[in-house]
Amino acid sequence: MVFMDRARGAFYLENEKMTYAFAVRAPELTEHLWFGARTGHDLPCGQQITSGEAHAVQYPVPDGGYVNRDQIPQEFHQSYAGDFGEPSLLIERADGVRRMDFCYEGYELPEQKPELPGMPQVRADENGRTLLVHYSAGGIRMTQHYTVYDDCSAVVRSVTLENRTSEPVILRRCASFAFSLLPQEFRDMPAGRSEWQAVYLAGGSGSEGNVQRGDLDRGTFSIGSRRGVSSASLNPFLAVVTPQTTETSGPAYGVNLVWSGSFTIRAEITANRNLRLSGGLDDTDFAWRLGPGETFRSPEAVLTYSEEGLSGMSREFHTLYRRHLIPRQFVFRPRPVVINHWEATRFRFTGEQLRRVIDAAAEVPGIDAFILDDGWFGAREDSTSSLGDWVVNEEKLGGSLQELSDYVHARGMQFGLWFEPEMISKDSALYRAHPDWVIRTPDAEPLTGRDQLVLDLANPAVVDSLAESVQAILRETRIEIVKWDCNRDLSEGFSPYLPPDRQAEQSVRQTLGFYALCEKLVRGNPEILFEGCASGGSRFDAGMLYYFPQIWTSDQTDAPARTFIQYGMSMCYPLSAQSCHVTSSPNRRAAHRTPLAARADIAMLGAFGYELDLSAMEPEARAELPKQIGAYRTDVQLILKGDLYRLASPAEGNYFAFELVRPDRTEAKITVMRELELFNRTRLRLCPQGLEPDACYRCPELDLRMQGRSWMHVGFLPRFTPGDFQTAVYHFVKE
Ligand code: GLA
Repeated sequence: MVFMDRARGAFYLENEKMTYAFAVRAPELTEHLWFGARTGHDLPCGQQITSGEAHAVQYPVPDGGYVNRDQIPQEFHQSYAGDFGEPSLLIERADGVRRMDFCYEGYELPEQKPELPGMPQVRADENGRTLLVHYSAGGIRMTQHYTVYDDCSAVVRSVTLENRTSEPVILRRCASFAFSLLPQEFRDMPAGRSEWQAVYLAGGSGSEGNVQRGDLDRGTFSIGSRRGVSSASLNPFLAVVTPQTTETSGPAYGVNLVWSGSFTIRAEITANRNLRLSGGLDDTDFAWRLGPGETFRSPEAVLTYSEEGLSGMSREFHTLYRRHLIPRQFVFRPRPVVINHWEATRFRFTGEQLRRVIDAAAEVPGIDAFILDDGWFGAREDSTSSLGDWVVNEEKLGGSLQELSDYVHARGMQFGLWFEPEMISKDSALYRAHPDWVIRTPDAEPLTGRDQLVLDLANPAVVDSLAESVQAILRETRIEIVKWDCNRDLSEGFSPYLPPDRQAEQSVRQTLGFYALCEKLVRGNPEILFEGCASGGSRFDAGMLYYFPQIWTSDQTDAPARTFIQYGMSMCYPLSAQSCHVTSSPNRRAAHRTPLAARADIAMLGAFGYELDLSAMEPEARAELPKQIGAYRTDVQLILKGDLYRLASPAEGNYFAFELVRPDRTEAKITVMRELELFNRTRLRLCPQGLEPDACYRCPELDLRMQGRSWMHVGFLPRFTPGDFQTAVYHFVKE
């Protein structure tokens, strides 16, 4: 798992499928050797150095010679030492010095992966081994953390900086990781051709997770968020592939940050055409004052590699997150099938209406939980008031919250409740009592978003008070599920609590404050299932998954539109993490009609539920629900544990298709949607993947039995009911 070649100073982090290697060539120079397919323990150093750099800045090394740092792929890139690429570290000493020559000091192989206090982190469990490599420069100690796994092709990285001097230093950039991929050919690419492509997820609220793919050329390509949340506009995920990489074959490198706030991920083709990758906290306006004796920990970054294309890369992420990130008590447990009233009622409802929804749900065998969404507290009838006042509106509910919870439980269901803890309405008792508790610039009116302001979570008093007011409700009421929402971006960049010289820490401290709240409320209530949400999927990231086993994927609930979103989110996040509901048709946002079966088939590719007025459904439609829930339960192990193969992308054609295969390959399921029924269009041939070639599989829906290899090569033509937005589902059962 961690092999050390002492003679050459080389470290190999490895498992059966991959190698990640670097070597300490000189104290000042740690060279990144390789990340990719498994290699031997014999990698040479200095391969990527080209000759003839007559005018390069000469960096002396102990053997008496010089190196050109600019050309050497490294494990971190410091500033001002002859390296003109993107630095991964920028530190300013009290005397103004910014050139830091970090020198290797030694390494450790601790028994346990060191904890990352108060932050989300990937566990090592029994499958991970951690290596710490220590460096220092001018009294600043830096540790690079690596954890490698034997059950998936992933390396988890982070950085610790410790100020051992008597003066403060300023951290201006502290990327969680850096490494480089070497050029395939040592010549310039002809115009219009690139060696590498970036694949990433872009969008907005209601259109999360659109897969983008584009060439990487000379210079720096970056994605990031400055919204204070990881954001729907660009997810903190980047894959790097070759132009030939497909869903099933070719190299695919994935980078994902275990961080829910602002971020930057950079991919730079350097002067000698290395592809230098780095990423972590957003550093556009970041300056962290690290006092004498203080330590700074970066968030973690996950790096994955697969030779089996983008689907292969996704499976590595899914395996890692299911086994080592998502809370263990929930990850492999079938999640409750919920009914939520939000799309049916929005803010305005009466206790009587809610009880009608609950009664109707109780009549549907299989619905496990009722979620009371926004509108139950303070005087909340629309978005303009009451956030922060977590006081039950008993008049509106027609009784106490416990009474409503009892009503739900008496009908055999669990009770779930919506909160938006980080936010505050101007029209609230909390704001009137503590106008200084919001993020605001002293001389400007704070900008609202969805009519609300953001609480200053850099202030521990705010975190404590919030935790207490939410906890009071959780204590007093029987609640099994919490939906934790966050409906706006951060816009002010100023915390009234922090001193002037710490204002450039505000964005990071806000996210740390959010995690402090999660530590108290989420980890403090381990029996409650917390679902994340942020205007839909605006904070869908690995940091969230450490606390929240599932996240509301999007407020876009139209099934055809959802196929794009669920397809994109699956690049990095397992299907069991995606919360998906059947809503009414025509959808609130889309004019077209989608058959009920299709809405259910797409929602069943995640944590499943309903969000509509069941009492308004036609009896024939309502009669379908128990069958749908039954089908969901039959296949739920595939959602929780299955290997995902993306067979067809809705962005590339008229079809969406996902296949899930049980890890022991005894069963597979394909869900396919045909968007439009177009006359005379070529039909789709679907070839299942991941089956055992020599085993026989029966497909009950096709009434056909073939060898795995026949299914995988020849495939079949899915059949659809006439009409647009139809789905079909096929099972393959090993005999
Ligand atoms: C956000 C969520 C919705 C719903 C509303 C309530 O938009 O994504 O699911 O909870 O807030 O205000």
